[in-house]
Amino acid sequence: MKSLTLLSPAKLNLYLRVVGKLPGGYHRLITLFHRISLCDTLRLERTAKGFSLTCTDPRLPTDSRNIVTQAYHLVKKRFPLLGGVSVHLTKRIPLGGGLAGGSSNAAAFLIGLRQLYDLPLSLKNLVSLGAKLGSDVPFFLHNVKQALGERRGDVITPVALRSRKWFVLVLSERGLSTKLVYQALPEDLPGVSLTKAHRIARIACYFLEHADLFEVAKGLRNDLERPAIRLSPSIQKIIGDIVQLGIPSVAMSGSGPTVFALLSSHQQAEKLARRLRKTLSPKSIKVCHSF
Ligand code: C5P
Repeated sequence: MKSLTLLSPAKLNLYLRVVGKLPGGYHRLITLFHRISLCDTLRLERTAKGFSLTCTDPRLPTDSRNIVTQAYHLVKKRFPLLGGVSVHLTKRIPLGGGLAGGSSNAAAFLIGLRQLYDLPLSLKNLVSLGAKLGSDVPFFLHNVKQALGERRGDVITPVALRSRKWFVLVLSERGLSTKLVYQALPEDLPGVSLTKAHRIARIACYFLEHADLFEVAKGLRNDLERPAIRLSPSIQKIIGDIVQLGIPSVAMSGSGPTVFALLSSHQQAEKLARRLRKTLSPKSIKVCHSF
């Protein structure tokens, strides 16, 4: 195989609870990842040697600061005779939006590189490489629509999805730094045992399967919402505006600032999107679904 094209989807966190602290400045989480149809595209081509990356978004560095470049060098360290690859990234997922676009790109690249060079890497091998690149990478390597993420978010347990969910996203021009949002968490997080948090996460999964949006809203939670709002108060205004329109099933994804509303039908989602486009920049409103 000389070349291949891969879709690289975004994720939402339908539930995110910070349960404590971990060594190395990380936080212990229980989160429900949900893959959505907002996708970047990666085109990989075999070359004789070396690595090159081009991207449609000039704001994204393509050198060693880029997680895809880092992924290539990580694999090259493991397989020193690995040939070259050139990558073209078509960016649609906003940068720093809490949608894990970079992590998804790294996961798609690892899967593509394995295929391109027929590398002897099991899922377990890929996940351990991916976890070195970022906490959200392992979820995308699992090729499931929905999963619980534990520890840093890198320990993945797939969760069945009964029906396709519809979402309206409110994207922001300005991203938030994940690190800064975590740093803005209060020092005295209310303690919760892992067993209890796990049970609550399962209950949240149950509520999220309801058709009634008030029931769905009981399942949504994101402990990073408060610190993100402190850094970017407009998040609270957007959430409030959507609730005012009679849609209670609204939350922020990951470390923000993307806000999403969960709806039970395509029709409901398009209706909310039309209403939001009247007051917010139409470009910032996207309808998407489980993917
Ligand atoms: O793993 P990733 O590179 O995506 O993490 C970015 C930053 O987010 C980390 O350096 C850390 O400050 C914070 N983080 C955290 N706890 C997690 C995941 C990320 O504190 N579970």
